[in-house]
Amino acid sequence: MNKKHPKKIAVVTTGGDCPGLNAAIRAVVRTGIYHGMEVVGIMQGYEGMINADFVPLNSHSVSNILQRGGTIFKTARSERFKTTEGRKLAYESISKAGIEAMVVIGGDGSFRGIEIFSREYSIPSIGIPKTIDNDIYGTDYAIGFDTALNTVVQVVDKIRDTADSHNRLFFVEVMGRDAGMIAIYSGIAGGAEAILIPEQKTRIEQIVKILDRGWKRKKSSMIIIVAEGDDAGNAYEVAAEVKKRFNQYDTRVSVLGHMQRGGSPTCSDRVLASRLGVAAVEALIGGKNNEMVGVVNNEIVHTPYSEVVVGKKKFPYDLLKIAEVLSL
Ligand code: F6P
Repeated sequence: MNKKHPKKIAVVTTGGDCPGLNAAIRAVVRTGIYHGMEVVGIMQGYEGMINADFVPLNSHSVSNILQRGGTIFKTARSERFKTTEGRKLAYESISKAGIEAMVVIGGDGSFRGIEIFSREYSIPSIGIPKTIDNDIYGTDYAIGFDTALNTVVQVVDKIRDTADSHNRLFFVEVMGRDAGMIAIYSGIAGGAEAILIPEQKTRIEQIVKILDRGWKRKKSSMIIIVAEGDDAGNAYEVAAEVKKRFNQYDTRVSVLGHMQRGGSPTCSDRVLASRLGVAAVEALIGGKNNEMVGVVNNEIVHTPYSEVVVGKKKFPYDLLKIAEVLSL
């Protein structure tokens, strides 16, 4: 145990929100208080750091938030924090408030920013990975991913009902920015006939072959999951291209959008967020700095920000093969 562990810490949520943030906030606040620390919340992401928008917290402040989506601190993307002047203002606010260390609940963009900040100013920080995209290096899962998957699967099941009633082909677009993790997992769980992801070049003729095979097998309806970052374009563009070559099915498109970012976190996300929140505060107590906590093979691991921001998360290509076999 590092004798001189920080006595006053701040916790902030930055970048895009996701379910599970409040569970992580709750874990950080209660672990800090458990270890005799003072904990403040920073509102509105790094903008709140710059504006000294701080909220003192006690264990009651985080009661009854575990089950809520979103973030009680709100979040924002901060252009100012990307500038030297902005970070200087942030440092002045932090030091004036007597904050000695931080827990940043964010994505790789957030860790890129806080790494520069902690190189310029000696404020130790530990990162907690969150994003529904689940594309952060250094952890098997990021907070928010499991809940987003369950949201998508519930919607795909609903779409399957109406697709089946009307003998339709549906193209369903899911989020993920330039990653196909949501698409591949939800595609398998939703029984999609094809899954289009940025990690694999999309060939329209391949989709046509799958549709033709299904048509010959008298498949009355089909669902194709399209990751929003797919190289062939968005779901509307892919549907139009396919229709030019194969128009036997009456076709519809559903773009799921921001519903994937909301909702009450699943048990899995709540446990992940709680584990990472405790681990982050304990890392600060242990004198660690500039690292992200993650879970790999169900073990808590620490990865330096410098590796997180350049690391490339391995894509589960084996799932693509499974999806192909099971879509027969
Ligand atoms: O990174 C999470 C994410 O939901 C992506 O999947 C999506 O492309 C992006 O954020 C949307 O960003 P915004 O909320 O700014 O529209």
